[in-house]
Amino acid sequence: MSNGRILVIGGAGYVGSHFALHAMKCGLQITVMDNLSTGHRAAARDAEFVKADLADESALREQLSKMHFDGIFHFAASCLVGESVANPSLYYRNNVLSAYTLLEAMRATGHDRLVFSSTCAVYGEPMQVPIPEDHPTQPISPYGRSKLTIEWMLEDYERAYGIRSASLRYFNAAGCEPRDGLGEDHRPETHLIPAVARYALGLVDDLVIFGDDYPTSDGTCVRDYVHVTDLAEAHVKALACLEDVPLIRLNLGTGAGYSNLAVVEAVGRIAGTRLSPRRGPRRPGDPPKLVADASRAANLIGWKPSRSDLERIVSDVIEWFSRHPNGYED
Ligand SMILES: NC(=O)c1ccc[n+]([C@@H]2O[C@H](COP(=O)([O-])OP(=O)(O)OC[C@H]3O[C@@H](n4cnc5c(N)ncnc54)[C@H](O)[C@@H]3O)[C@@H](O)[C@H]2O)c1
Repeated sequence: MSNGRILVIGGAGYVGSHFALHAMKCGLQITVMDNLSTGHRAAARDAEFVKADLADESALREQLSKMHFDGIFHFAASCLVGESVANPSLYYRNNVLSAYTLLEAMRATGHDRLVFSSTCAVYGEPMQVPIPEDHPTQPISPYGRSKLTIEWMLEDYERAYGIRSASLRYFNAAGCEPRDGLGEDHRPETHLIPAVARYALGLVDDLVIFGDDYPTSDGTCVRDYVHVTDLAEAHVKALACLEDVPLIRLNLGTGAGYSNLAVVEAVGRIAGTRLSPRRGPRRPGDPPKLVADASRAANLIGWKPSRSDLERIVSDVIEWFSRHPNGYED
């Protein structure tokens, strides 16, 4: 697959940009397509860059007709759970309708390999932890429902039209590649590790932990953090696996869970400061514990996260914000 050409939709965003960097290092030729709604032009680095909205059917078809891509990687989405509850219309348009537009453009132009960013939010409130892929899917937010709807579309398009796809259900993407100029820069930042790191470095005044009465060891939520470059690696492996397996659904996580307070402790320790976050109420839709059973990814694509220990993740994030206190604005 080295020297192959791939299209990375949403490649100026957090996960997509790290994937593009990794794919480039694997020798793939990259075209990034992004509307820059939440992404950053600098994050796409020196990849060929097309500024376009995925819902722009003619721009997409033009791109897919101009050259053949050996794989299409679809990271572009709206992905804030709370926003999806307040404004589901955005999520069904930007996630579901855009995926439909993409699949139709793929059909029309003879493209048949897609790797799709799904999420553990498709499971809803887990009945079993670690969560295996055959756990019931009962998403509780429009965000999770939009992603599950796309997974169903992918199943139907494979059966009817032979479009092969891998849905990769990420747990919590974390970490970054600060020495390659890549980090996490979401506005607002709803992810715990960058929020705690910015607080530890004095870049923000306040840090709130949402809920301390969950049935976990210290009362705060437990999450499974996976390094974004480990995620990137899984995407390359998933594309290769589509050669033999036409429809793939995989959890991507480490199987280890860290409570919010354990993350705060680790960030404080590595930043060399003592942190006292404020306690706030639970956030609606936050299950106590989300940890992956990722054994299928190990068995099917030979994926084993090697960068996902909490120390490494936190050190990367602290380094990124130390170098770039204003994120990509620097
Ligand atoms: N970050 C996580 O922890 C996490 C966890 C589970 C799943 N995911 C999924 O991974 C994907 C990437 O997440 P992220 O954290 O990198 O988000 P992000 O917001 O940083 O990146 C999304 C990128 O897609 C672009 N985009 C959005 N809508 C577009 C459109 N209609 N046309 C063109 N470009 C568009 C944005 O400008 C941005 O660059 C998303 O699909 C998300 O649902 C992320």
